Amino acid sequence: MQFHFFLQGSAENLFAFELIHSKSWHEFARSWEDLHQDTFMADEGKYRFRRYSEFSLDTVNKQITTLDHVPYRQTKKYNYLNGDIDRLYSPMKEEIQTNEAFRQVLLTCADVIFQLQDSEEWLVQVFQNRIIASNESLGKPTPEGVHRDGVDFVLSLMIKYQNISGGESSVYAEDGTSLKAKITLIEPGDFILLDDALMKHSVEPIFCINPNEEGYRDVLIAMFTKRMRTSNLAI
Ligand SMILES: [Fe+2]
Repeated sequence: MQFHFFLQGSAENLFAFELIHSKSWHEFARSWEDLHQDTFMADEGKYRFRRYSEFSLDTVNKQITTLDHVPYRQTKKYNYLNGDIDRLYSPMKEEIQTNEAFRQVLLTCADVIFQLQDSEEWLVQVFQNRIIASNESLGKPTPEGVHRDGVDFVLSLMIKYQNISGGESSVYAEDGTSLKAKITLIEPGDFILLDDALMKHSVEPIFCINPNEEGYRDVLIAMFTKRMRTSNLAI
């Protein structure tokens, strides 16, 4: 597949076909049942649940190392709504940090972006996100609107699209107004991988279909930033 500012597709376009049918994928997807409410929402929304962890990914040795747990922080420049504050979320569960399907997802993305920017080491900031919608309220996957995340590459990977409508993703050129694509991630493994330095993105709200049942959108967000190898620095 040609990567031209962004890449989109379904699981079999990027990942091994067996991936989303594997036992490890099912364990990975099931872990979205145990996320914690985001209490940092400046819009006072109660519709987002998440976990957050950071990793170092070594593309040479294909190693993924969990980094110390730290708050997530963006500047107001990238997130006018929730920027400039430390947001401390629960970390991903240990068994999910080492889950095989999760690791395959990160390594596959690293293979793709390595062909564009040959950094041997990447900082990977990962969110497990659940946005819920009910008959009383819609859910907003990107309450900050059209934005960049301030990293090099961003993966949005669909885990589960349950009893909802909406959630259409828009990809824009750097100016934030020239629309390049509209994509709705629906099936497990549907993805968008975009060059965050050159593109902006947003996701439309979601609506509950059957008000007697929970409606939600489960997505993995993985943000890749080039890392300097400290071992290569002169002392
Ligand atoms: Fe984003």
